[in-house]
Amino acid sequence: MPGQGFTVKPSSGALGAELLGIDLSHPLDDQTIADIKAMFQEYGVIFFRDQVLTPEQHIGFAERMGTININRFFKAVEGFPKIAEVRKEPDQTTNIGGGWHTDHSYDQIPALGSILLAREVPEHGGDTLFSSMSLAYDALSQGLKKTLEGLRAVHSSRHVFGASSEYTKGVSGRIGNPELANQDAIHPVIIRHPDTQRKILYVNQGFTTHFDGWTKQESQPLLDYLYEHASHPEFQTRFQWKPGSIALWDNRSTWHYALNDYQGQRRLMHRITLEGVPIS
Ligand code: SIN
Repeated sequence: MPGQGFTVKPSSGALGAELLGIDLSHPLDDQTIADIKAMFQEYGVIFFRDQVLTPEQHIGFAERMGTININRFFKAVEGFPKIAEVRKEPDQTTNIGGGWHTDHSYDQIPALGSILLAREVPEHGGDTLFSSMSLAYDALSQGLKKTLEGLRAVHSSRHVFGASSEYTKGVSGRIGNPELANQDAIHPVIIRHPDTQRKILYVNQGFTTHFDGWTKQESQPLLDYLYEHASHPEFQTRFQWKPGSIALWDNRSTWHYALNDYQGQRRLMHRITLEGVPIS
């Protein structure tokens, strides 16, 4: 379904679409917002180009899409606590989000998604990969689907954002509040998307620690199998950023991975995260 006043260009056979002909710096009418939301549900991640937005306009668009979640760990943009900075400086070697993950799965009610706006990008490199967890689910055998239907998994923020995390040391100054990294949540391994009702494989390498009631050692082989399966290129799209590019992704139905292949260059993104609804 094409949106009112914009055209839709799918970005791979798996997920993702670029919405062309929208200027997000102007207030959008209700029908256009509804059309954008419909494309978001259909494609899992939507992209916009050449959006010259002030932080206020970025926030304004986010508020039309949902309720803003203020991130506990990321440094905020000066004067804008609702906008998290995803920054890598030329002298840093570790980046934020450089592995497959879905944000906030450690929360009881995981975030709906994020609106990431590119402010400064490397000359080349720094793309983001997205993978469809509904396609990953669909491609599993009936037998494994049945086994996974009975399982729940534990997700945690502790090993990523807590005091002993090697990751936060690598991106020092960009991520803080380790004392707030005390979230653990148990979610079904197969969830239904709250809007589309499609089934989704809901574990991720970043935050899932083990299956509920299993040891970590028992869990790891099956988790590794699922991670390998779900990262097949057939389930993916790859987005190349330019200043003013925006990606809005669904944290329930997709994973993402920020490539760290631009050493010695700066990459600065502004991220607004949206509150989700209970998942089951
Ligand atoms: C993130 O994981 O939220 C950051 C993604 C990116 O910088 O491309």
